[in-house]
Amino acid sequence: MRLLIVGAGGFIGSHLCEWILKNRKDWQVTAVDVSFTKIEHLLGEEQLRVIEIDILKDRDVLEEHVKECDVVFPLAAIANPLIYVKNPLKVFELDFEANLSIVRAAVKHGKRLIFPSTSEVYGMCGDSEFDEDTSCCVTGPICKQRWIYSCSKQMLDRVIYAYGLRDGLRYTLFRPFNWVGQRLDNIYDTTNGGSRVVVQFMSNILHGQDICLVNGGFQIRCFTDISDGISALIKILESDCADGQIFNIGNPLNECSIRTLADNLLVLAQKYDSLKDTVCKVRIVQVDSNEYYDKSYQDVSRRVPSIKKAETILSWTPQINLHDMLRKTMDFYFE
Ligand code: NAD
Ligand code: UGA
Repeated sequence: MRLLIVGAGGFIGSHLCEWILKNRKDWQVTAVDVSFTKIEHLLGEEQLRVIEIDILKDRDVLEEHVKECDVVFPLAAIANPLIYVKNPLKVFELDFEANLSIVRAAVKHGKRLIFPSTSEVYGMCGDSEFDEDTSCCVTGPICKQRWIYSCSKQMLDRVIYAYGLRDGLRYTLFRPFNWVGQRLDNIYDTTNGGSRVVVQFMSNILHGQDICLVNGGFQIRCFTDISDGISALIKILESDCADGQIFNIGNPLNECSIRTLADNLLVLAQKYDSLKDTVCKVRIVQVDSNEYYDKSYQDVSRRVPSIKKAETILSWTPQINLHDMLRKTMDFYFE
């Protein structure tokens, strides 16, 4: 199998490349990105071809690579809420426009597409568990720019679905629910909101800074270990039944409030020598979202996936509990 992984130098892309190079010696990977630091340890492997392409600019070059592969994973996107509110047009240009070109190239050349949707498409849906085929996508008013990411992804989901019906595009949409693990984000970035929450709080601990609970930290997420995420992607790749389907890929048993996440991380941090001088300085404080992000931020108060479809169709069930996931991630950053 020849895979084209666009955004291969990112969090999910780097783990996907790593897994394939270790476990499927007969698959060929073309890794496209503008940064390859997270896959530096894989460079030089025969199975891996690395190509630097800015997908905002070099769309024709990218199309040539789509033409040459069997399966495309378009993983390049902005996936950080601070940028949704600070630079929404950049999110639209990359997450929607640039990815739309890849989708169209897959349609034109008859390639299989495995596309990352997101748990964010459900937005503020009130269902106790989000279901891929019945839950509504609920976003806020236009002035709440946070939703530009959710809307960009939702629109692509709809476009891909329509190409499937009209042109027979072979596709699978997967919706990660807060995947976490080694190489998630940059621990040295000390900007508030510079990283997704788990790395943000670890960075706060590393730098002896206050942990900020946005609007009290009562929001709930279901954190999912990256290894469980990757095993779902491999099941999708190897399955004959994943075509035309949307799958939530999350761990409903790892439901946790942001407040509890902060408490857990502070307890776990005690074990690392590298943190002993800073962890004692960290306080947990509450911050209004207008101050932390912007007035155009709005939050999802509870986000829990139904994973019945992935369990039934893919025979996939997440294995890693919250504690082990946080330990593994902290070991990577702090040992
Ligand atoms: P990431 O930010 O870690 O990786 C994105 C990669 O895209 C980076 O390596 C970046 O350099 C690359 N990129 C950015 N602009 C580019 C450009 N112009 N040209 C080429 N490459 C460019 O993101 P991730 O966490 O790996 O997420 C991958 C995909 O999964 C994204 O579409 C994201 O929206 C989606 N997703 C992720 C999660 C999660 O929990 N991590 C949740 C839901 C959806
Ligand atoms: C994220 C991002 O939109 C995407 O990475 C991804 O597509 C999506 O989750 C997903 O998994 O599908 P969110 O979970 O809101 O969205 O992003 P985080 O930045 O990780 O924040 C989680 C929660 O922690 C939010 O409620 C946020 O307000 C809160 N938070 C964040 C704090 O309380 N303090 C902080 O310092 C940072």
